[in-house]
Amino acid sequence: YKEIKVALLGAGTVGGGVYKLVERRTAEMPDKVGAELKITKVLVKNLQKKREGIPSEVLTDDWEGIIHDPEISIVIELMGGVEPARTYILQALEAGKNVVTANKDLLAEHGQELMEAAERNHRDLCFEAAVGGGIPIIRPLKECLAGNEITEVMGIVNGTTNYILTKMTQEGWDFDDALKEAQRLGFAEADPTADVEGLDAGRKMAILASIAFHSRVTFKDVDVKGITKITAKDIQYAKEFGYTLKLLGVARNEEGKMEVGVSPMMIPSTHPLANVNDSFNAVFVHGDAVDDAMFQGRGAGEFPTASAVVGDLISVARDMQYDCCGRIGCSCYKNLSMKPAGE
Ligand code: HSE
Repeated sequence: YKEIKVALLGAGTVGGGVYKLVERRTAEMPDKVGAELKITKVLVKNLQKKREGIPSEVLTDDWEGIIHDPEISIVIELMGGVEPARTYILQALEAGKNVVTANKDLLAEHGQELMEAAERNHRDLCFEAAVGGGIPIIRPLKECLAGNEITEVMGIVNGTTNYILTKMTQEGWDFDDALKEAQRLGFAEADPTADVEGLDAGRKMAILASIAFHSRVTFKDVDVKGITKITAKDIQYAKEFGYTLKLLGVARNEEGKMEVGVSPMMIPSTHPLANVNDSFNAVFVHGDAVDDAMFQGRGAGEFPTASAVVGDLISVARDMQYDCCGRIGCSCYKNLSMKPAGE
């Protein structure tokens, strides 16, 4: 089999998860992709720091060495933040490499610019992991639900705050202890202010609204309120009246009027979203044909997020291998070996 070589930018929680997950799937790649898949370089700032699960010989601090390496055809950006991630992604696309990213901060500000660069260079830019961690939501909105006029996208899109609110509601923990535990479990952003002030959820809602409503929605267009002012008393009141407090993102596009926001809301405890707990996320979509659809799963953490990144990676690699749309059912798949059931 031909080997498709991949560079990974960033070796934090998700980067480490992606490296390990690709290793775990190595033997299955020829069946899934039609080629071998290998992460040959991992870009880090500090070469001295040991990275659990990543061999030191693949670590590099030389971006130029990656961008000018003709053998690397896919770049996975997991550094986070706007710069230098934006420049690196643009350079990678211009150099003819396909890109997978989980960078919601960047997409919520510069998504349009990046997508135009991908189109101009006839390259893939995939970002399933940017919203909802392991939940498939970007591709369902773009593809499976494309036959709908979507009027509402609503849900819980931040794992850290959902974890904090769950622990405060069910276990009576205080805010700071719950946040510390969310950080320890690897859910929170490098600066957890982005989680607790609702900024991370706001960025994700901007990305979802842009795709769902075919509009250019950036973070500036989102009204954001976080959970830092929520007290144990608020939670207790909500509980007594049969309500549960959740940080909800809501995007509506009805009769030409679009509204996108994030704020803590009391929802009836019997509502399905009230029972989405811990670091789980859930997104409701309303379309004129499908009616209501709900997507639920782990919204943060090493392997759930790696699941979405590696899914994108495999899909991009298939596109390259078969020079085709990469969709199941397409004739390019006739070359993929399918084992008889039970083997
Ligand atoms: N800090 C984010 C969250 C990580 O808690 O949801 C996943 O995007």
